[in-house]
Amino acid sequence: MSAPLLSCRDLSVTFDVNRRGAWPWTPPMKLRAVSDVSFDLAPGECLGVVGESGSGKSTLARAIVGTVPTSGGRIVFDGTELSSMSPRERRRHRKGVQMVFQDPLAALNPRMPVGDIIAEPLLTHHPDTPKKEVKARVQEMMERVGLLPNLINRYPHEFSGGQCQRIGIARALVLKPRLLICDEPVSALDVSVQAQVVNLLKELQRDMGLSMIFIAHDLSVVKHISDRIVVMYLGRLMEEAASRPLTTRPRHPYTQALIASVPIPDPVLEKARVRPIISGELPSPLNPPSGCVFRTRCPKARPDCAEGIPPMLEPEPGHFVACPYNEVQDVLAVADEAREKVT
Ligand SMILES: Nc1ncnc2c1ncn2[C@@H]1O[C@H](COP(=O)(O)OP(=O)(O)OP(=O)(O)O)[C@@H](O)[C@H]1O
Ligand code: SF4
Ligand SMILES: [Mg+2]
Repeated sequence: MSAPLLSCRDLSVTFDVNRRGAWPWTPPMKLRAVSDVSFDLAPGECLGVVGESGSGKSTLARAIVGTVPTSGGRIVFDGTELSSMSPRERRRHRKGVQMVFQDPLAALNPRMPVGDIIAEPLLTHHPDTPKKEVKARVQEMMERVGLLPNLINRYPHEFSGGQCQRIGIARALVLKPRLLICDEPVSALDVSVQAQVVNLLKELQRDMGLSMIFIAHDLSVVKHISDRIVVMYLGRLMEEAASRPLTTRPRHPYTQALIASVPIPDPVLEKARVRPIISGELPSPLNPPSGCVFRTRCPKARPDCAEGIPPMLEPEPGHFVACPYNEVQDVLAVADEAREKVT
């Protein structure tokens, strides 16, 4: 792998949370939203991040962008550590890392025409850019994301959800960043336009040589766009592998349960399928389980899983898993087994 563009090592983010009804002098509780997360991202690579709601995906993204402070570990972007950056390097970092958000309409200023919305980051970082050039750049970006440039003076409410997300993407790319972080960019969209937006992002990533972090809670969305995928649970990484081995031969009981929870669009097959069961609620991050954080819901948990945090193992080259009792479960074989039972 070439030198990574982004490297996170033992990254942790902790929030202070005040207890409801507590006295003002009561010390706040510590909520570890992200714990000891490590991964590398190569130039031009797309890393998928999946996990249930509350697993720390957005917090991880915000820490990389630099909008929440880290409480431990390191983030190195293009050879410079985030915490040691001078104000000038920080500005360069902000320019080089852009985000696309989940709710496209909420992310756009309703009182601004789309041309101004897309131009805003450009004018913030390069206020002296001539007006003519700004307009040309905006129109070029609009065309690139599949919007008619003559709609430049329209307002966000005049566009559909999918079009609003295209405006958000144009705005994020107008500065030609090196890393694009998409935080659930299609979750709020109609199923019929989700694939179009994912394909657009894939195309832009390839054409512009972008590195990308694509966050979603649904593995089936992430697997088509990602080269590699990391699976998060309660702020920790459970498994990391290239997209295909992770989705067809997952090793961690949590990844296996995530994949098994995606319904098969055939009612007979769906009913016959044998699923590893993931029961119960996500524990509170204010009081995570001791040892392996997944143990309270893990179908394979043993008494010693409570004793220590499992180390990240590499049972196959490039396939990392935080479970000593990991074993391959071929999900395609599981589906075949179910099919045989039915026929
Ligand atoms: N500013 C904050 N202050 C306190 N707690 C926070 C803050 N932001 C996030 N959290 C907590 O951190 C944990 C992780 O939240 P985060 O939003 O990163 O999860 P997520 O995986 O993105 O979830 P979702 O899929 O719902 O977007 C949650 O328990 C959340 O309540
Ligand atoms: S370490 Fe134990 S509890 Fe955690 S995933 Fe593995 S088997 Fe399950
Ligand atoms: Mg989120």
